[in-house]
Amino acid sequence: RGGGLDDQQIVGDLGELRQAIQGCRRCPLWRDATQGVCGVGPVGARLMIVGEQPGDQEDLAGLPFVGPAGQVLDAALEEAGIDRSDVYVTNAVKHFKHEPRGKRRLHKTPNAGEVTACRWWLDQERTLVRPSLTLTLGATAAFAVLNQKVAVMKTRGEPLPLPDGSRAMVTVHPSYLLRLPDEEARVRERAAFVRDLVKVRALL
Ligand code: URA
Repeated sequence: RGGGLDDQQIVGDLGELRQAIQGCRRCPLWRDATQGVCGVGPVGARLMIVGEQPGDQEDLAGLPFVGPAGQVLDAALEEAGIDRSDVYVTNAVKHFKHEPRGKRRLHKTPNAGEVTACRWWLDQERTLVRPSLTLTLGATAAFAVLNQKVAVMKTRGEPLPLPDGSRAMVTVHPSYLLRLPDEEARVRERAAFVRDLVKVRALL
């Protein structure tokens, strides 16, 4: 059950959806999270970007991609000439999955069951926003949108058909860029990420 809504019921608008997500009990992740984080952006956005799940800062702010990964994403979007305010930005999973490590809350990757449970919300967002292109960041988002496991590095940068007639594109997650140990790899991989975003822009 999603936030008291019947499985078949489609929520009316994004405000209603945002509220309904707060009541989500479809999987146990709500228990340790501050709040559910709904996507942000205009209804009718041609581009939807899907990340994995809110991080520490997103969980506190209630907004997607406002922490370090969000800064990487914002800068890359700008470089590719895509205005974030035109994009609907969301996550495959709406609650922050983490474990305590001292005073910090350490990100834990959501499992297939959690992603599958949360796909209900992503489907609601997709029904409302109706993007013509959906860009997935990392393996979790690719699995959520394409409904199958995907090798991100092999699949990235190519338009893929979705059952609703729209298209998807797969690329890496900005956190991957942040985790790369050496500067040379970071520069190279960041450039490849921006190249994927330029391809996205050309398809809009
Ligand atoms: N990483 C994500 O996948 N999503 C966010 O909103 C923040 C970090």
